[in-house]
Amino acid sequence: TSNEMWGGRFASGPAAVMEAINASIGFDRKLYAQDIRGSLAHSEMLAETGIISAEDQNRIAHGLNTILREIEAGEFVFSAAREDIHMNIEARLAELIGPAAGRLHTARSRNDQVAVDFRLWVKEELTRTAEALKALIGAFLARADEHAATIMPGFTHLQSAQPVTFGHHCMAYVEMFGRDLSRVRDALERLDESPLGAAALAGTGFPIDRAMTARALGFRGPTRNSIDSVSDRDFALEFLSTAAICATHLSRLAEEIVIWSTPQFGFVRLSDSFSTGSSIMPQKKNPDAAELVRAKTGRINGDLLALLTVMKGLPLAYSKDMQEDKEAVFDAAEALELMLAAMTGMVADLAVDKTAMRKAAGAGYSTATDLADWLVRVAGLPFREAHHVTGRAVALAESRKTALEKLTLAELQAIHASITEDVYSVLSVRNSVRSRTSFGGTAPGEVRRQIRSWKKRLARA
Ligand code: ARG
Repeated sequence: TSNEMWGGRFASGPAAVMEAINASIGFDRKLYAQDIRGSLAHSEMLAETGIISAEDQNRIAHGLNTILREIEAGEFVFSAAREDIHMNIEARLAELIGPAAGRLHTARSRNDQVAVDFRLWVKEELTRTAEALKALIGAFLARADEHAATIMPGFTHLQSAQPVTFGHHCMAYVEMFGRDLSRVRDALERLDESPLGAAALAGTGFPIDRAMTARALGFRGPTRNSIDSVSDRDFALEFLSTAAICATHLSRLAEEIVIWSTPQFGFVRLSDSFSTGSSIMPQKKNPDAAELVRAKTGRINGDLLALLTVMKGLPLAYSKDMQEDKEAVFDAAEALELMLAAMTGMVADLAVDKTAMRKAAGAGYSTATDLADWLVRVAGLPFREAHHVTGRAVALAESRKTALEKLTLAELQAIHASITEDVYSVLSVRNSVRSRTSFGGTAPGEVRRQIRSWKKRLARA
């Protein structure tokens, strides 16, 4: 049989494989609520402007609300022959209310319809993402508060570099997820325009009111160019790129949790609720959730690349290629929601082993920079010379298999005569951390100041 929507020009129906490649109902049914909202707003505008009668609009609204209930009750029968969510709903509307259903699509095309539906969906998802990011930032702020003075090694090249505090390290993630949150807000700002009324691509001769539908759907206003309105998927790409950057942050955190929770590091222990055992090795407690956060970043990157590739060669305006925008976004959204929730749980639950962190912080001559700084500050050496002198002290300690602060004053003075007893005050990790009071530095007082200012920012975000 030929199609109920465009059958006029067609003598026969599609090949089975045509239906299989063409139908999007398997995934775009997720847009049912947005599609119905869009149709309600459109029909109300058509009635307001006198394009359809108030009676027909009543029938349409009643039918659409019935369909919404049917879908939510799981009673709606989705059909691949009806291709997508838009035609599934319109065909059901015709079954329910008869010929008035045929008036709904006046001054509209599926091209602007799908664009508005998808924007509404992405807008809601970005709003959920913002909330999830705020929860994660909140969890980090709580841990940072608790551990503003907990000393741990800071790393470069994954080698002990200089002592820092765990609170300071947590606050680095607050900055990262804070930027993600601002990217989400930016994306929401640009997305907030309604393409409804662009029709197929050229606009329409009917006296529609696009500002009215934009307002009814909660958009700031209508988009300005009908061709762009149906060609644009930047909002989906921005969602995916924002998600990919955020996932990258989550993945780096996941990697740190995996490393820190090894018995070799032992900085943190994951709670039972965020780890798994081994079916063969009874001693094991594995950081599976962190590993899966790390892994799911791969699929989000893939989703971004998939849609960029779909869009890159498309001439304006709509091509069916664009139907492939949805699965990438749905997949990334589902993954990111899980990742953010799992990470928030892990961060809140982590047991921190202060003793292990403190012990590791002193290893690897992590206060060598403090010795060099002391030589500059107290003995007046140029930094390059101080660096060289300190290098010799490290080499000596290394050959003795001991720590810097275990070298005797005589040994240190043999390296440079200007060294005095006072130098020992800077060789401890505690004093090293305390001395880093520069803006954004690791001194506990400075970390606490940053925590206070972030708590205020978060309350406003
Ligand atoms: N299912 C389609 C999509 O997701 C709806 C738009 C179809 N428009 C068209 N001209 N065939 O893109």
